[in-house]
Amino acid sequence: MSYKFETRAIRNQMKRSQYLEHSTPLYLTSSFVFEDAEDMRASFAEEKKRNIYSRFSNPNTSEFVQKVVQMEEADDGVSFATGMGAVFATFAAFLNAGDHIVSARALFGSTHTLFTKYLPKWEISTSYFPVDDISLVEELIQPNTKCIYVESPTNPGVDILDLEAIGIIAKKHKLLFIVDNCFATPYLQQPIKYGADLVIHSATKLMDGQGRVLGGVTVGSKDLIRELFLFARNSGASLSPFNAWILSKSLETLAVRIDRHCENAFTIAEKLEASQEINWVKYPFLKSHPQYALAKKQMLKGGNIIAFEVKGELEAGRNFINAIELCSLSSNLGDSRTIITHPASTTHSKLSNEDRLAVGITNGMIRISIGLEHPEDIWNDLKNALSKIE
Ligand SMILES: Cc1ncc(COP(=O)(O)O)c(C=O)c1O
Repeated sequence: MSYKFETRAIRNQMKRSQYLEHSTPLYLTSSFVFEDAEDMRASFAEEKKRNIYSRFSNPNTSEFVQKVVQMEEADDGVSFATGMGAVFATFAAFLNAGDHIVSARALFGSTHTLFTKYLPKWEISTSYFPVDDISLVEELIQPNTKCIYVESPTNPGVDILDLEAIGIIAKKHKLLFIVDNCFATPYLQQPIKYGADLVIHSATKLMDGQGRVLGGVTVGSKDLIRELFLFARNSGASLSPFNAWILSKSLETLAVRIDRHCENAFTIAEKLEASQEINWVKYPFLKSHPQYALAKKQMLKGGNIIAFEVKGELEAGRNFINAIELCSLSSNLGDSRTIITHPASTTHSKLSNEDRLAVGITNGMIRISIGLEHPEDIWNDLKNALSKIE
């Protein structure tokens, strides 16, 4: 029988041990034992599919990966210690010295640092296209281009990229299409349906959903994941079994949490849009979002991230943040607690002012990750802080 997303997220779990536990146990062990010399040889030769050492695999990390795999409708996956571990390993496994990446300009700050500071050490270069003009993608493709990379929605500007259109371009030019699906989660969007070859997540965000552990995961086809797995098991950014156990449990409640996150975020986005103290607000499911139709097409709901700009620029932004009482001032997102951040001075501070403006990050821009508190309480906190920006 084929079960629905919510049911699979709960019922897809590892085989019970001899103790017949109901909830998945935690296998906090670095390594696994062998029966004898032949068992050891055959295991290392991969004639047997079994756990050897937790840098390679562990029942808890495998359970977590398999849940994400079925949610994204992929073939297989590899977990990592963090989202950036997944992003870096994915590039390191598939790119060679001298390769070229075509990427959307709007990117998470650390991914941008990889592109501008570290990948150039191996002469890997990147060309960028604006999020609102994917007609430039084909023009940027060179003979040495290996992949197209996007986030959608983007961090922090919540812009939406047309995954289907980019997927078609990638296929036409035989390029790997890699999507960071962290802001949407597989509950809201499944990029593989639109032609993505590899889908990356920072599990630290909405997958954990309660701000406890870091983790990352990349999923895709059997062949690609085999190559990535070989890189991962030798390079070592492995997810800890404890974090995997937490993350796997959290995925059981992903759908109900995201439903409420989205409901709260839509309520707050509408209220922000109607307030006098705001220059603009961006939320994918508000009709005023420049890619509203696209968001509606490729996402189930609008997600939990809202970007807006208070009137009065930097000082007003600081006054707003200083007047916040309930919401947290933190750089994480996707937590049950509403989190407010100022990208220009935090997550995207390493970018030049010019680069920030090119991706819509103004000095007065605020990013809110809407949590699961009662929306009236979230709004009262924001409304009170907005009244104090002058
Ligand atoms: C879109 C996106 N990708 C990747 C990352 C990196 O994830 P991590 O902090 O788990 O390394 C983040 C973190 O904020 C993110 O927002």
